[in-house]
Amino acid sequence: MSDPLRPRASLRTAVVWDVLKDALERRVKAAGRDALDVLDTGGGSGNFAVPVARLGHRVTVVDPSPNALFALERRAAEAGVADRIRGVQGDAHGLFQVVERGGYDAVLCHGVLEYVDDPAEGLRNAVGALRPAGTLSLLAAGLGGAVLARALAGHFTEARRALTDPAGRWGEGDPVPRRFTAEQLTDLVTASGLQVGAVHGVRIFADLVPGVLVDTEPGAMDALLKLETAAAEQPAFHSVATQLHVLAERD
Ligand SMILES: C[S@@+](CC[C@H](N)C(=O)[O-])C[C@H]1O[C@@H](n2cnc3c(N)ncnc32)[C@H](O)[C@@H]1O
Repeated sequence: MSDPLRPRASLRTAVVWDVLKDALERRVKAAGRDALDVLDTGGGSGNFAVPVARLGHRVTVVDPSPNALFALERRAAEAGVADRIRGVQGDAHGLFQVVERGGYDAVLCHGVLEYVDDPAEGLRNAVGALRPAGTLSLLAAGLGGAVLARALAGHFTEARRALTDPAGRWGEGDPVPRRFTAEQLTDLVTASGLQVGAVHGVRIFADLVPGVLVDTEPGAMDALLKLETAAAEQPAFHSVATQLHVLAERD
């Protein structure tokens, strides 16, 4: 059965949302409070912030884009959670100019390390915003998924370029500045002082399957979602996932 609290019961977010929701529930029990303080760094227009606020938590979104923050404000109002979401214009590198160090039970850093000038510093700041017992949810573009997608689209030279490029880019027209392997991400997390709790591959098959197969075959979407969930935890599939999710804790 689909979960009405999922950002969208879609293939793009379902695996991350399920992992995140469970982690927040565990943090609620550990903290002994119903509502957590959550920071969504680079949270954009609130794809995750709004559903997290709908769970009852207080969410601060830091993002450099005024347009994204404007969209966030509108979405929060529409979802009836405007009183639990605060949008702040800021940057992962200057995070503590706008939010309190050590002030959050959970920090989300989703789709941001690809874009920051220095991923290690960006992640160190995200971790610095956590309380002594806190949860980090990190999502970033996976290298192998991009290589596979370019190859299956017939762009073999671009696929090879992504494979050998230090930033994992397939060419000048690549809109993503940087991609990561699971090992690079877990090394960054460990270096920031956290323990890795779980790694999940996200969108392992979804971006490779022709949409018509999913849209026209009865039950196909649900079956694909179940396949994504089953494969997400298996390390063998991490190397071909479009995105990688790392859940980490301080204690
Ligand atoms: C791919 S979007 C992800 C948005 C959101 N986290 C999500 O998962 O839907 C990347 C976001 O990172 C923000 N961003 C770009 N550079 C950043 C930086 N240096 N510090 C913080 N956020 C940044 C962008 O404005 C954008 O909202």
